Amino acid sequence: MALPTETVYGLAADALDPTALAQVFAIKGRPLLDPLIVHVLDLAALAEIAEPDERLAAVSGFWPGPLTVVLRRRACVPDLVTAGKPTVAVRLPAHPVFREVLRLAGRPLAAPSANPFGYVSPTKAAHVADSLGARCPWIVDGGPCAHGVESTILDLSTPGRARLLRPGPITLEALQAKLGPIEVVTRAAHQQVAQDAPGMLERHYSPATKVVLFARGSNPPPAAGKVARLFLSRRPSVAPAEDFHLSETGSAEEGARHLFDLLRQLDARGFDVIQAELAEPVGIGVAYNDRLTRAAAR
Ligand code: TXA
Ligand code: MG
Repeated sequence: MALPTETVYGLAADALDPTALAQVFAIKGRPLLDPLIVHVLDLAALAEIAEPDERLAAVSGFWPGPLTVVLRRRACVPDLVTAGKPTVAVRLPAHPVFREVLRLAGRPLAAPSANPFGYVSPTKAAHVADSLGARCPWIVDGGPCAHGVESTILDLSTPGRARLLRPGPITLEALQAKLGPIEVVTRAAHQQVAQDAPGMLERHYSPATKVVLFARGSNPPPAAGKVARLFLSRRPSVAPAEDFHLSETGSAEEGARHLFDLLRQLDARGFDVIQAELAEPVGIGVAYNDRLTRAAAR
């Protein structure tokens, strides 16, 4: 069933049941080599699927919340979850609805974002219905997601080595304050790490409409065709039918919360191109820019 989390909606299934997991891959059209994040209620449940790591104590203060940690797996975790790798990605979600379902199920739940593979992640229940439709048997509506971008992914599966695989609501700076230096997997390294996290593939989170980026505070250049301009903050609009904004004040938090919703809306309106404003690359602005840059990749 599709469930709300504080980041994006997830398509959840029993993480220990290969039949249920296979349905998740089928519904999303997701390649089997792309591993799933397993969601658990607490650290005791985490310890049943992943091997202990002393660095967990340093980051567990971010839980429950939008942080995913990659650890060495235990044998009970099906190969479908891990794509046959020796690691498993785990997070303790904060959303009360997701937590209640975890509690009732009494099982870990694997949940990728509830969108067709490669498309924009859903941040409202209606997004799931729009793009998965009847293929998704159950959708629980928990309202719009608080963060609007997917969890931060931190790889701790190698002793002595910490790598940021995906920027998200928990910032690199916040993690480094707890753990010390963390390697950042750069865009240039994507092709190489695609096996580690296919969600890191350059073209991901993409609307069908072409997306072109412009720098924070600048004006987009004139473009041919029917153009939508997506600003981070409200600007004196010259063309109300073509100018859109994500936040009254230019807050990157608010921008991130509304980004996928607005991209979906604009994608449905027949524009030839969406010109989108980048954020300052600090705080959640890093994750916001990451998702926009992927949406723009062709
Ligand atoms: O916020 C989120 O993380 C949402 C909500 C539903 O929890 N989930 C989500 O899942 O974004 P998904 O499947 O769309 O993205 C998960 C990413 C993928 O890029 C996948 O490759 C990576 O996590 N991943 C999963 N297991 C991994 C592992 N063992 N090692 C490295 N990367 C892994
Ligand atoms: Mg996804």
